[in-house]
Amino acid sequence: MAVPHWSSRFAFIMAAVGSAVGLGNIWKFPYMTGTGGGAAFVLFYLGCVLMVGVPVLVAELMLGRRAQRGPIGALVALGRRYGGTPAWGLVAGMGVVAAFLILSFYSVIAGWALAYIPKLAVGAFAGATAQATGAVFDGLLADPVAMAGWHTLFMALTVVIVAQGVTGGIERAVTLLTPALFVMLVILAIYASVTGDFARGMAFLFTPDFSKLTTEVAISAAGQAFFSLSIGLGTMLAYGAYVGDNVSLPKMTLTIAGADTACALVAGVAIFPIVFASGLDPAGGPGLVFVTLPVAFGAMPFGSLFGAVFFVLLAVAALTSSVSLLEPIVASLQERVRLPRIVLALGVACLSWVLGFLTIFSFNRWSDIHPLGGGRTFFDLIDYATTNIMLPLGGVLLAVFAGWVLTREARVEEFGMGEGVVYRVWLFLVRFLAPAAIVIVALDALF
Ligand code: PHE
Repeated sequence: MAVPHWSSRFAFIMAAVGSAVGLGNIWKFPYMTGTGGGAAFVLFYLGCVLMVGVPVLVAELMLGRRAQRGPIGALVALGRRYGGTPAWGLVAGMGVVAAFLILSFYSVIAGWALAYIPKLAVGAFAGATAQATGAVFDGLLADPVAMAGWHTLFMALTVVIVAQGVTGGIERAVTLLTPALFVMLVILAIYASVTGDFARGMAFLFTPDFSKLTTEVAISAAGQAFFSLSIGLGTMLAYGAYVGDNVSLPKMTLTIAGADTACALVAGVAIFPIVFASGLDPAGGPGLVFVTLPVAFGAMPFGSLFGAVFFVLLAVAALTSSVSLLEPIVASLQERVRLPRIVLALGVACLSWVLGFLTIFSFNRWSDIHPLGGGRTFFDLIDYATTNIMLPLGGVLLAVFAGWVLTREARVEEFGMGEGVVYRVWLFLVRFLAPAAIVIVALDALF
């Protein structure tokens, strides 16, 4: 089946970067680093990105380009052709479910970013202390109606873009706005370093205490690597289907992973000096960014304007990611269900929107409900099941497919760099390291 291609190689990189860079970098990475105890988490995360994330990303893009279809159709067809069974489609099926689940909470959190735009624009944080910004954030969490409103707006924006087909709009948005967001993060990082507790912030981020690297922390760091790179669920497979043959997948992958990692680290540098200077708890949880950055916005010159623009850009970054969550679902459905794209996008988004209420209520009415025990709310459970289990499992199965099931010719052709050292290192990682990592994690989870 013919699928529309990105208008240029640049457009594809931008879309993939747009998918990778989002709330995962600016909201999730800092708060996970905080709850994970700091530098040991960060180092393990970086190791996972390089040794597992990058090879899996190459594998996923490769399969997408090879198949030229939506994720489920792609794995059914490739499975039949190379592996003798369409059952590989189940891997993509799991990915579609994961995308659906992630979208449900992603939209709620992105709604928080939207909610902060007017707050900053009217100068709500001018001169605010961390206590005051914390109170504003708690006020938002305590207001499920407001959260639902912003969640609805964000989901609607996602549908509008996906309905039009992703190759159109996002490329322009990402080309201009992601670099703008990055520049603002750098300015914030410099500001925080000068005015906050730079020494403690850096020590927390980069001086590891490996006694803090429990298996639980290691698993969450690995999961975060998959989440942040948008791999393991078919997003990159769907985007890979739109990539022309002239693109070198390994090189693109390094660009995507480099941009993604840089954004996460700079966000960390912007946030932790403020955390320590304001006496906040680094392990404060999902509100960390929303409590710390407004302190800086409240104190810096033109902070209200700067902050409002920052949250606009954060919302746009979230949008180019949420689009990439909805897209693989719609792309997969489109091949099976004879309905217009807009209807499918709307239908899936509506269901995911409804599911989003589990997340909304996890922060207020149902904050004491822990369905499976362990102190985890509905939001925690959905996040855990997707980020720490489904994405790593899906990613490794895709790596195994690319490394073991695909024929050598297909693999080499898609890799596009001959069979030199780079290829051999990649093949080793997808064949052995990625599967070994998942087996260790699974054994650990069981015993
Ligand atoms: N990588 C995105 C982020 O960091 C989230 C995402 C995950 C998007 C999986 C698509 C698929 O915000």
